[in-house]
Amino acid sequence: MKDMGSTQKGVFSSKYVDEFKTYRIYKEFGPGEKFDKIRRKNTFWKEITEAIAVRNRIKRFILRNKDLEIKYVLDLGCGKGLLTLLTALFHKDLHIYCIDTDETANRDYMHHLNNASFVKMDIKSPQLEEFIASLDGNIIMTGIHLCTDLSIRFLELHRKFDKIKFSVLVPCCIGKFPHSRFRFIIREMGIYEGWCAYLSCLAGPGKVIADRDTGILSDKNIVISIDRTES
Ligand SMILES: C[S@@+](CC[C@H](N)C(=O)[O-])C[C@H]1O[C@@H](n2cnc3c(N)ncnc32)[C@H](O)[C@@H]1O
Repeated sequence: MKDMGSTQKGVFSSKYVDEFKTYRIYKEFGPGEKFDKIRRKNTFWKEITEAIAVRNRIKRFILRNKDLEIKYVLDLGCGKGLLTLLTALFHKDLHIYCIDTDETANRDYMHHLNNASFVKMDIKSPQLEEFIASLDGNIIMTGIHLCTDLSIRFLELHRKFDKIKFSVLVPCCIGKFPHSRFRFIIREMGIYEGWCAYLSCLAGPGKVIADRDTGILSDKNIVISIDRTES
C-alpha cells in the first residue's frame, strides 16, 4: 500500500509506524478495506503512533500478569477512537468501552467490532463512577490527550477503583499545578515535564512510570503508566 507512512505534509518515520505495518490488521486499513476511511485522515499516522505506544504497554502488562483476568478496557476521552479500534482488534477477549461526551464524532468503524461500545458520558460525572462500579471484572484504563483537569480526574479514578489494575495516560494541555514545587524540573526540562511530574505524584497506588516515548509523533509524548500490581 503505497500511501502508508506519509501524509499531505510529507513522509515521516517512527518505530511504531514500522511496527504497525508488520501487523496482520494493517491490511484492514488498506485502500478499499474496512478501515480505509480512517487511514485517510491527515492525523492518522500520528494517532497510530500514540495508539501503538499505549497498546504495547497494555500488552506488556497482560503478559506480566497472565493470572490476572482483565475483562474491560475503558478508553476515556476516546475522540474518534483509534486506540479503541486497535485495542479491540488486538484483544478480542476484552470488551472496550470508549467514553466521550461527543457523540457526533464519526465512529462508523464500531459496526465492525463486536467487542467495543461507545458510551456517551462525562468523565467528571458521578455517573462514570457508577458505571465503573457496575463492571464485574478487572479493568485497564487508557486516556490519550486528556487535557488539563481531565488528566487529574483520570488519576483520581485510578486511585478510587481497586479493580482498575493498570492505567496508561498521555497527558496533553497543561492545567493548574504548583509550579514552585516543580520549578527544578520546569527549569531543567520544561513546563510539560513539570506538569507530567505533578500528575505522576497524583498517580498511585501502584508502580508509576513516566517516560518520554520518542516513537510518538508529537511533542506531547510523555506516557504515564500505573501498575497497581506492583509497588
Ligand atoms: C484532545 S481529544 C483526544 C481524543 C483521543 N483520545 C485522541 O487522542 O485522538 C479530547 C477528547 O476528550 C473529550 N472530552 C472533553 N471533555 C470531556 C469530558 N468532560 N468527558 C468526556 N469526554 C470529554 C473530547 O470530546 C475529545 O474527544
